[in-house]
Order: sequence, then structure tokens, then C-alpha cells
Amino acid sequence: MDKVLGTLNGMDFTIGDTLLELSYLIAALLFVFGLKLLSHPETARRGNLWAAGGMGLAMITTLLLHKNAAGQGIALTNVWIIMAAIGVGAAIGWIIARKIKMTAMPQLVSFYNATGGAASALVALLEYPNALAGDVGSILVTVLGLIIGAVAFSGSMIAYGKLDGKIGDVMKPFRTYINLVLLISTLGLGVFIIASPNPPTEMVWAIYALLAISLIYGVMFVLPIGGADMPVVISLLNSFTGIAAAMAGFIYNNQAMILGGILVGAAGMILTLLMCKAMNRSLINVIIGAFGGGGAAIDREQGNIKEIQLSDAAVLLSYSQKIVVIPGYGLAAAQAQHMVHELDTILEGKGIDVRYAIHPVAGRMPGHMNVLLAEADVPYEQLVEMDEINPDVQNVDVAIVIGANDVVNPAAYDDPSSPIFGMPIIDAHLAKNIIIMKRGMGKGYAGIENFLFFNNKTRMLFGDAKSSIQKLVSEIKSM
Ligand code: TAP
Repeated sequence: MDKVLGTLNGMDFTIGDTLLELSYLIAALLFVFGLKLLSHPETARRGNLWAAGGMGLAMITTLLLHKNAAGQGIALTNVWIIMAAIGVGAAIGWIIARKIKMTAMPQLVSFYNATGGAASALVALLEYPNALAGDVGSILVTVLGLIIGAVAFSGSMIAYGKLDGKIGDVMKPFRTYINLVLLISTLGLGVFIIASPNPPTEMVWAIYALLAISLIYGVMFVLPIGGADMPVVISLLNSFTGIAAAMAGFIYNNQAMILGGILVGAAGMILTLLMCKAMNRSLINVIIGAFGGGGAAIDREQGNIKEIQLSDAAVLLSYSQKIVVIPGYGLAAAQAQHMVHELDTILEGKGIDVRYAIHPVAGRMPGHMNVLLAEADVPYEQLVEMDEINPDVQNVDVAIVIGANDVVNPAAYDDPSSPIFGMPIIDAHLAKNIIIMKRGMGKGYAGIENFLFFNNKTRMLFGDAKSSIQKLVSEIKSM
């Protein structure tokens, strides 16, 4: 392993070094392969395992083969501390993953984003004094790793609190100006540190000041964002975590970290742009925290709520030709995915065309409805994207809205004061009949009224989604 094969940048390059680099290359290929499999619900589970295998390989070979500048392997230095940290981390991760409810996944994702950002920021903080004075490249990646990691950490913790309902929408007045001042101060201090001719050991105060201001910016950046805009922020913070990890990889000149970080950063950024498109927001608005908000819905005649009896709903569905199911967060909360699949199977058995209309931000995480319905073995071909279903909704006999609210709220089209104004929605209001299943008149995530409930074509079927569908299935079976 220690046989010297040659020299690189004045340092001996051994068989061990070659094997380590080779293992990083294999790990990178596994990350990419895993990511590819993650793009389809049927292969996603396998994709996760392949990517995790790549990460496992990179960790094991680093422990066995990595050497520090003095030529010492990790086994000679602090291997036990690292093993203990991996053991504790893996145990906590395992327990959380077993216990977490599907509906709490976004909070968990935010929490993991936060830990990733914190780890990268700590690497930057601890390695900064070791950078050589005037080594602009090293200091640049250290400063970037610290800023992005710290913002990802504090921003994700706030996002976690908001998703968990612990933190409401605050700090609305002047938020854009405060955030702009904080952003400029953060970047200004970063540039000052990079440009300073002083050795890093004399600039430690500045790096701690940069940490503090970056943490504050992360908090202020996410705090004012509310309502339906959270998905964009979560995926942006996810991307930040990846970029921060890549910066930490540059600090250690570790290819696996750089590649893994860049993949997470790029995937997160693509998702962010897709989410922006789905929410009709520009990315620049996201970055200065200038969107979102409560905004009262316009005052208008509410009209009456009309309920539907189970037997009438069963008849209406059974004599339809085209049905579209529009699932939302409430379907996930009720864990009604298996029941709804049973309903669609019975209706399809009667020769009815049943499709599921999937809104990009339905539920509480990207792809939430796809994952949920895949879990119940709903054939993927039955799921139709919003852009594809909308031109056809007017031909649909019944739109069944199950636990969805914001993603079918027509205020997005006709109420400029609404916080969701401009967001594309599924045009349930155009269907010939609309059945809405929810427990009561509870609001959706954006916290606003939905006038679809008062539409003349709408009938409400109140109750927990799972038990309502169960009763509906029995009713249809007994017809
Ligand atoms: P929401 O607008 O959140 O509405 C969900 C509805 O489900 C509520 O109005 C609630 O009404 C009903 N509900 C809750 N539990 C139920 C149960 N057990 N049975 C039946 N109904 C139940 O959902 P949506 O239409 O899916 O919209 C998603 C919202 O979350 C959007 O605003 C989106 O921006 C936001 N968001 C999305 C994500 C991602 S990436 N998907 C992440 C964060 C936030 P009742 O209380 O009356 O039952």
C-alpha cells in the first residue's frame, strides 16, 4: 500500500493513494447512477441504496487509506472518535427513519439540511486558521463554505419550525430592506476577509463575525416566508447544503465530497427552478426573501356550502365516464392512499376512466403525492401532471378533491391580493361536478379561504378522507 508509484505536486503518490482516488471515482459513479434511478418512483428505492453504497465506500476507503500532510493515516490519529461519531449518527438516523411519519418528512428533510449546512460551516470555521496568508483560493472556498453552510443551517432550522407549525409568519414589514442590508453586509465581510493581507490567524475574529452575521441572515431570510412559498425555500436550502459540502470538499481536496456536494447542489438548484416555475415566482425574489405573505383574500359573497350524501356520491361516480382524483396533503394525513386505490379500481372495473391529477406542490414535499400513490401501487401511468390535465378538466364528469385545498384554489387566478395569486392550480372548478372530501372548513397551508367550496357545482363530503372513501367504496359495492 505504501509503495511509492511517483510524485504529484511534490508529494509521493502510493498504491494506497491510487486505490483511494479509484474508490472516489466509483463512489461518484454510484452517486450519479443512484440519482438516475431516483428519477422514477419504481426505481427510487434502489437508487437510494446505490447512492448510499457509494457514500459507504467513500467513507470506508477514507478511513483506511487517507493520509494527512505528515503522511499519517487516520488509523493512527483519531479513528475512534470518528467511528463513535458515525455509530451515534447512524443509530439516531436509523431510529428517526423508522419512527418518522410520512407527513413529517419535510420537517425531517429540513432538519437534515440544517445538519449538513452546520457540518460544512464548522469545517470552514476550524480550517480557516490553517489557511496560508495570501492563498486566495483556499480562503475563498473557506469563506463561501462558511457563509453558505451557516445560512443553510439557520435557514433550515427556521424552515423546520415553520413546517412543524412552531413558527408563524413574522417580520413582514421592511423585510426586503433588512434582508438586503444583511446580504450585502455578509458578502462585504466575506470579501474583506478574502482580500485582507493579514494571515488568517490574525483574522479569526472576522471569521466568527462572518459566522454570526451569516446565521442571522439565514434566520431573517426564511422567517418572513410563509404560506404556499415554503417548497421553493426548502429546495433552495437543500441546494445550499450541497454547495457548502462541495466547498468543504475543496478545503480538504477530497474528490468524493466535492462531487457529492456538487450533485446535491445541482439537483437542488434544478428542483428549486422547477418549484419556482410551479409557483410562478422568480428566483431573485426568493433570494431577497421578497415574496410570500398573508394578504387577505378579497371579500366576496360566500354563497352556500352544499353537502352530498354518500349514496348520492356513489351514484354520481358510478354513472360517470371520466373522473379525476385530485389528491392533496389531507390524503397523506389520513393515510388514505390504499383506500383511494381501491376506489379507483372499483370504478375502473365499471369501465370509468379514472386519473389522478398531480400538482407539483401538493402535499408537503416535492413528489409527495407520487410517492404516496406509488406506495399504494397506483399505476404510474394513471398519474397526470397539472399541465396535461388542465386542458381536459372541462370534459371531466367529476373532480374528486381529496384533502387538497390551496392547489385547487381559484383565488390564484382572480384575487390579486391573495398570497397564492399567480400560482398555477389544477382547474377543478372547470369540471362538470366537484366533490370535495375534507374534515371540515379547515384552511390549507397558505391559510386562506377557498371559494371553490362555495361553487355551485361543488358538493362537500365531510369527514376524515380515509373513512369517507371507505364508506364510499362500501356504498358503490352495495349498489
Ligand atoms: P393544503 O392546502 O395544505 O390543504 C390540505 C387540506 O386537507 C386542509 O384544508 C384540511 O382541511 C384537509 N385535511 C387535513 N387532514 C385531513 C384528513 N385527515 N382527511 C381529509 N382532509 C384532511 O394541501 P394541498 O392542496 O396539497 O396544498 C399544499 C400546500 O402546502 C400548498 O400551499 C404548498 O405550497 C404547501 N407546501 C408544499 C410543499 C411541497 S414541496 N409539496 C412543502 C411545503 C408547503 P380540514 O382541516 O377541513 O380537513
